[in-house]
Amino acid sequence: MNIGIDKIGFYTPHLYVDMNKLAVARDIEPEKFTVGIGQEKMAIPPITQDPVTLAANAALGILNEADKEKIDFVIFGTESGIDNSKSAGVYVHNLLGLNPHARTVEMKQACYGATAGIQLAKGHIALNPESKVLVIGSDIARYGLNTPGESTQGAGAVAMVISANPRIMVLEEHSAYFTNDIMDFWRPIYSDKAFVDGKFSNEQYIYFFSKVWEQYKEKSGLELKDFEAICYHLPYTKMGLKALRTILDEGTEEDNERLVANYQVSTQYNRNVGNIYTGSLYLSLLSLLELNEGLEAGSRVGLYSYGSGAVGEFFTGILQSDYREHLHINDHKHLFDSRMEVTVPEYEKLFEETLPVDGSTLELDITKDTAAICLSGVEDNKRLYVRK
Ligand code: HMG
Repeated sequence: MNIGIDKIGFYTPHLYVDMNKLAVARDIEPEKFTVGIGQEKMAIPPITQDPVTLAANAALGILNEADKEKIDFVIFGTESGIDNSKSAGVYVHNLLGLNPHARTVEMKQACYGATAGIQLAKGHIALNPESKVLVIGSDIARYGLNTPGESTQGAGAVAMVISANPRIMVLEEHSAYFTNDIMDFWRPIYSDKAFVDGKFSNEQYIYFFSKVWEQYKEKSGLELKDFEAICYHLPYTKMGLKALRTILDEGTEEDNERLVANYQVSTQYNRNVGNIYTGSLYLSLLSLLELNEGLEAGSRVGLYSYGSGAVGEFFTGILQSDYREHLHINDHKHLFDSRMEVTVPEYEKLFEETLPVDGSTLELDITKDTAAICLSGVEDNKRLYVRK
């Protein structure tokens, strides 16, 4: 049975900061951020957006009434969830008006959560071919003001419908994965900011890539020449390029040109959003599919997922005929075009804004937030959401 991505949608908040201006404010050469790290703009979430609203906004634009009936499993990948008990997916299930006869869970393993969700969804569809699964990766990446990780923050969500006979991409049979207990990036339960060993995390990202790439080739019998493109988890866009470069000597000059050119296309959305953790790999896939008009049906795309701590996985998909007709290219173009820039001091103020943790009531002004679904306040330690 063919199982894979039938629909894919994306949401990022309406505010961003320019990385050139952030560099100047931090007394750093702008080229370090725009070339060395490879980021142009960083999405800034207003206090009225959290991982729940980002996720719901990402899914809202792609689901029709038939999907809402058929979805019987919601898998919410996140590492910046809002509750240590209740799944963020349950809020999203309600905000989207999904069929109550559904399972809903939250998956956590750093940036790998949505990939775990996709693999679980594949198994569910294999057993229940008529059903559909909503898999979401939604996060706000926070390292802190004036930290080395600051330039690699971001916010956003990718929502995917996984089904039999998918119209965008069939996920192939083979997959290679690797786990090792390391401390490259982590966030203890008491902290709203991540801790990271930056250089070590970069090394481990590459090491895990080498492990799963080798295992994938062994399992599948495929080689570099068989790939039209490879998409990477992108904490920042230079990271994936570093990993890609480690395998280019396995291909011809033509393979290298094709893979590097497609890599550049696959990083455009991420370059303008920043790290969105669980959704980053799928935002890169979306960037490739929506911005490379020449990518032909039948092309094989490799996908490298990495979640610190750490788990890595490499798997592949085949693009389906007329897949472009099922993308939401204009909606995403509009989303990017209508964003508003904030100054560095404005970003810093937004970064420091927090919700009460003492049970007091806070009503938020949602009129300035252009999103359809917003966090409208907190009361009795409960978050309140509205769909405008
Ligand atoms: P840093 O130490 O400030 O930067 O932090 P650097 O000194 O390594 O410089 C970065 C690059 O800019 C270098 O390029 C410099 O040469 C270049 P490279 O040698 O690496 O190719 N550079 C310049 N280029 C042009 N003009 C200039 C210039 N100056 C310098 N003037 C670091 C960088 C990424 C470590 C930091 O931002 C950080 O800690 N970020 C967070 C961790 C991270 O993103 N790790 C990535 C792998 S782990 C991962 O992907 C998982 C993750 O998503 C979390 C999860 O799974 O949940 C993070």
